[in-house]
Amino acid sequence: MERKFIKGCSFICLLLGAVIVMAPGCQKQVTYVIGGYGWKANYLDLDGYVATDGVDKVKTQYNLANADIGTDAKWVSYESGQKSPKPFDCGGCHTTGFAADGSTPEGYAGSGTCKTCHPQIYDSLSESGHQHILNAVSGAAPDYPAFCPGVEGPEKFTFGTTPDQTKIFDLKGIQGQWVEANVGCEACHGPAKDHAQNPASVKPSLDAARAACGKCHISGEKVDGIEQADYIISTNGDLINYRQEWEEWQASPHNIAGGPDCATCHNPHATTIYGGKAKTDGRRVYQNEDCLKCHHVTIGQNMSSLLCIDCHMPKAAKLAVSKGIIGKEGNYAYVGDVRSHQFKINAAAASPNAFYNPDRTAVQLDASGKALGLTVTLVCQPCHSPGGIKPHGLPEATPYTFDELKQKAPLVHASQPKV
Ligand code: HEC
Ligand code: HEC
Ligand code: HEC
Ligand code: HEC
Ligand code: HEC
Ligand code: HEC
Ligand code: HEC
Ligand code: HEC
Repeated sequence: MERKFIKGCSFICLLLGAVIVMAPGCQKQVTYVIGGYGWKANYLDLDGYVATDGVDKVKTQYNLANADIGTDAKWVSYESGQKSPKPFDCGGCHTTGFAADGSTPEGYAGSGTCKTCHPQIYDSLSESGHQHILNAVSGAAPDYPAFCPGVEGPEKFTFGTTPDQTKIFDLKGIQGQWVEANVGCEACHGPAKDHAQNPASVKPSLDAARAACGKCHISGEKVDGIEQADYIISTNGDLINYRQEWEEWQASPHNIAGGPDCATCHNPHATTIYGGKAKTDGRRVYQNEDCLKCHHVTIGQNMSSLLCIDCHMPKAAKLAVSKGIIGKEGNYAYVGDVRSHQFKINAAAASPNAFYNPDRTAVQLDASGKALGLTVTLVCQPCHSPGGIKPHGLPEATPYTFDELKQKAPLVHASQPKV
């Protein structure tokens, strides 16, 4: 996927920081950019509040271009109903060593210290989304596009006075305190000052690091200022809400002894996106072989050039953008911008509705908490529709109805031993 790469700066530049000065036509000054790496960006204003349409009276979210579904980069609405300044209470997942109560977190060494002995891991991580979550914009990053809420177009800002970054926690809108902006080493490995001082005798737990993904790739209610997994996979319209990879995986057949967890498939120190941009080996390139290590299937029905993830990880979740595709029967199938992590396909589902709970607010789970599986509407229809998607250069696929897809689905691996 080609996504526009907004150049971020490492957490070092958080220390440098800078205020973007109001450019002609720009209606708002911002201090920090949230994201802008994978899908979209939000902004913090001079007081550390998250800019919202409701308060700022302009469009305050910047969606990146998405070549897969053909959307351009543009400003869109964010929290238009917001009546009062929105605090930045996002630190639990967008920073390292977060303390919601504002106390000073203890026991952390900081990624800069880890770098002295683990430089390659540090370099690889610095190219990943985990290091582009909360960035002050520094004068050293002039190729930031128009970070100017409400103003379209590629015009740039002039960079102005540098705020004192040690005072970020004095900003009214900032809630809690953290050791480091972005997901640094200790966001997953836990406070590791003791290890850094004494590596031979103190070692961070790798199992705990594997489980750490479940602190952030979730969505639910806050407890003591930190959001918790609720194991409800919420949906909006037909698509899965973003940031539920952990909850989807929990509900998937992979959540079993011997099955793959997040760190089996993902190199936690590398990005899954922007292959061409990664300067180090910092990208986990997906290949069918990754799945075939454990599964022994081939793909029939004239679809041997498809990837396993074309069907088993369709873009059935939405973070920023989506597209409706009208099928052969006039019904819609929606394509979002985040891959589902449920893996299982429920080819026998009687209707597309079988995927959702009766009030269509969440994915239907069985008594043991497992998802019933993706329907052919979510899996096959995005391609098998007039004007359907054609990822990685695939040709156009024949339009089929729901019933036709349902009949054909069991044929995909038909001649295969079930392993
Ligand atoms: C429970 C953890 C959590 C909280 C709380 C949280 N986020 Fe996130 N955020 C994530 C994760 C994880 C992603 C990556 C998307 C995914 O996993 O589907 C993300 C992605 C984003 C992105 C897109 C980044 C990009 O490069 O495209 C933006 C923007 C964002 N969050 C803004 C916010 C704001 C603003 C808040 C607070 C109002 C917030 N988030 C609170 C975990 C969280
Ligand atoms: C002074 C050098 C040094 C510093 C600083 C350092 N490490 Fe290490 N680290 C090591 C060495 C050496 C090992 C290998 C230890 C062994 O296996 O005997 C190691 C191993 C590890 C391991 C693997 C443990 C295992 O069970 O295999 C992790 C995780 C780790 N370090 C994380 C960190 C983090 C996070 C930081 C920063 C907070 C950090 N290290 C800072 C030297 C260092
Ligand atoms: C997104 C979570 C995450 C972040 C951020 C992270 N790690 Fe890890 N790290 C892991 C996981 C999970 C493992 C265990 C992988 C496994 O079990 O094979 C691991 C393994 C390691 C290991 C031992 C295996 C190896 O690859 O050498 C070292 C050393 C290590 N990490 C150091 C670091 C340092 C240093 C940083 C910061 C520059 C860092 N990690 C950032 C999750 C993370
Ligand atoms: C402290 C919170 C936190 C933890 C822990 C965490 N993530 Fe993330 N992760 C995020 C946020 C926030 C983003 C969005 C970053 C962005 O795009 O701006 C993200 C983005 C990602 C992405 C997409 C961006 C990219 O560069 O590929 C992957 C893949 C990912 N995380 C995997 C993992 C895995 C695997 C683990 C556990 C080993 C993990 N994360 C642990 C918060 C976290
Ligand atoms: C580390 C081994 C491993 C890897 C890698 C792996 N899987 Fe699995 N997979 C499993 C296990 C174990 C199960 C559970 C099998 C069972 O329920 O009998 C499973 C179950 C499944 C199922 C559900 C089977 C059913 O009963 O309906 C699907 C579909 C699947 N995997 C697809 C994938 C895809 C696609 C990939 C690559 C993106 C992948 N797997 C990678 C081990 C793996
Ligand atoms: C064209 C879509 C498609 C592609 C591509 C695809 N699958 Fe499947 N897969 C299915 C469907 C549909 C089912 C369910 C069949 C059923 O229930 O009768 C399935 C079932 C499975 C199962 C569970 C049942 C079984 O037959 O063992 C596994 C495991 C699996 N696929 C793995 C993979 C792997 C690995 C790849 C990549 C090499 C892959 N699939 C590519 C559509 C696809
Ligand atoms: C069976 C393998 C597998 C497992 C297990 C897995 N992922 Fe993924 N994940 C992938 C693949 C493949 C992609 C797509 C990479 C690509 O597009 O090249 C992906 C994409 C992502 C993305 C980026 C979203 C997007 O659509 O670009 C995030 C975030 C993510 N995974 C987080 C997680 C987390 C957190 C876990 C654990 C709960 C996890 N993954 C478990 C294989 C896996
Ligand atoms: C990523 C896009 C994509 C997805 C997802 C996909 N297909 Fe296909 N499919 C194709 C393409 C491309 C072809 C080859 C062109 C054609 O014959 O339609 C094809 C061919 C087929 C054919 C053979 C048609 C023929 O006459 O030779 C069948 C049957 C089929 N697909 C069924 C399915 C089913 C069932 C699913 C969901 C489980 C599915 N496809 C998912 C792209 C896709």
